[in-house]
This record gives sequence, C-alpha cells and structure tokens, in this order.
Amino acid sequence: MTPDLMEAGARRVAEHDTLMQTASSGDREASFGRVLNGAEPDFAHGVALYLDGITVSFDGFRALNKLSLAVNVGELRCIIGPNGAGKTTMMDVITGKTRPDLGTASFGSNIDLLRLRENEIAQIGIGRKFQKPTVFEELSVFENLELALKADRRARAGLFARLSGAQLDRIAETLQLIHLLPQAQRTAGLLSHGQKQWLEIGMLLMQDPKLLLLDEPVAGMTDEETERTAELFLSLEGKHSLVVVEHDMKFVDELTEGRKTVTVLHEGSVLAEGLLSEVQADEKVVEVYLGR
Ligand SMILES: Nc1ncnc2c1ncn2[C@@H]1O[C@H](COP(=O)(O)OP(=O)(O)O)[C@@H](O)[C@H]1O
Ligand SMILES: [Mg+2]
Repeated sequence: MTPDLMEAGARRVAEHDTLMQTASSGDREASFGRVLNGAEPDFAHGVALYLDGITVSFDGFRALNKLSLAVNVGELRCIIGPNGAGKTTMMDVITGKTRPDLGTASFGSNIDLLRLRENEIAQIGIGRKFQKPTVFEELSVFENLELALKADRRARAGLFARLSGAQLDRIAETLQLIHLLPQAQRTAGLLSHGQKQWLEIGMLLMQDPKLLLLDEPVAGMTDEETERTAELFLSLEGKHSLVVVEHDMKFVDELTEGRKTVTVLHEGSVLAEGLLSEVQADEKVVEVYLGR
C-alpha cells in the first residue's frame, strides 16, 4: 500500500469513529443528519426496542411511571390497558414526540432514542400509525404510495423522477398486501375508513420500517376489515417488529394466536405480561378493567 492510500484509509477510519461517537453519545443538536450515516441499529442481540424506567409527568401527574418493556426483533407485541393507562404516551416517547423525565429507550442494542429528533427516529426505521388515518385524500391510492416511497430519503429519487421498475414492483406488492390492488387508481378520499387505514399502513411500509407502532388500528373498522387487518399484521410479523395497542380483544386474540406475549399497562407501568388467557385471568387485570 502506498503512503497516500494508508493515509486516506486512516482518515476514513477516523471519520467513521467520529460518526459512531456522535451517534451514540453526541449532543442531540449536533448529531442531526449524521446519525443516519453513522449508526445502523444493531439487532444482533435480538432486541428491537428496549424501554427502562421511563417516567413522563404532565404537571406532576405521571402518565408513565417507571415503564420497562422489551420487544424482540420480528416480534408482534400487543399492548392492552384501560383508557389513560399511558399507551399513546409510550408511543410518543418511542417516536421522540415526548421527552421522558427519566429512563432509557433504545432501538436495537446501540441507538439511544432519547437523543434523536422525531424525523431522525422515523429515518432510522421506526414507523408510527396514528389512530386517525392521515392519507392525501385528493390523490389516488397509487399516488399516495408513490409519494411515501419518494419521501424516503434513502430513495434519493426526486419527487418528479420517474419510478424505476423495482419501485413499481414494490408499490404493486404493497397494494396487494394491503388489499387495495383493485383500488389503485381510486381517489383516496373515496375509500372506506378501513381502506384508508390500510393505505396509511401501506405508506409506512414503503419506508421499510424495522419497527412499526400501531395505535388502535382497528378502531371503527367493520368485523371483516378487522379480520383482514389481523391477517395483514400476521404477514408482517417476522419481517418487521410490531407494537400494536388495541382494545378489541377478539383482534388481540387473533394476533397472539394463543402463544404470544401480551403486555397490560395500567397507570403508566406494566401491570401484567403473559399469554392473553393468562392476563385475562389475572385478578389485578380484571380489577382495573372492571373498575373498583
Ligand atoms: N399532553 C398531555 N398533557 C397532559 N396530560 C396528558 C397529556 N397526554 C396524555 N396525558 C394524560 O396521560 C394519561 C395517559 O394518556 P394516554 O397515553 O393517552 O393513555 P392511553 O393511550 O392508554 O389511553 C392520561 O391520564 C392523559 O390524560
Ligand atoms: Mg391512546
């Protein structure tokens, strides 16, 4: 190797190290835009999301109270709990919308979520579905997915660039997955409530998130739509990690297939964790659902 090459190599290693340090311990403001090149989430230990001791207070009221939770890579985890338990606040913390007073939150084993901004968290692969669908009503189903694809910074294609064959294939696959292939050219505003929810999930999928957070995804859906949504989530399991907050116990039963862990939140902490049948038989859980 020539001295020139060695020097260039050493410089690259140093730059890489600086990036990694910025990503893991740097000041939040300074790390903007760099963490994305410098650090990929490390899933080698099998953990996708790890929350520990998360506390969020609103004017002295603890919406989350030392909440600890771990979700494995590829896992589909259902979270249940009465209104006000802190389920949505938990998602706000994971996505950087709300900063906790205490606790730690990591994505993979290496990414400190509490140091990242909302847009950075979205870019490293955490997608969130809010309760209300937020699709572009005046655009077609296809155009909604196209926009979502091009909004992904990794795609590098400009908003007006033509779609590549591979991108067209991805849109078609997603249309099929979300049961909207026959509606591809339909104006999104004309879809049913359930179809809009699927479209929004499709838009999230265009960004290929590693972790998907879904807050009451089947609220307001018909029974048939709910069933198809369960099928959709089950088909995403393994390829993505999913955290699903839901009240509909029949839906949770379908998702957990009698063998997956369910987490019950109450007053900002984990009240119980186990199979759905186990937590439903747990007296503490019965009590908070029935009220005292
Ligand atoms: N921005 C906020 N300001 C004040 N209180 C809030 C705020 N967000 C949530 N809360 C309170 O925190 C508690 C948890 O709310 P939330 O996370 O929405 O519960 P869940 O989604 O489980 O129904 C509730 O008592 C709610 O009123
Ligand atoms: Mg909520």
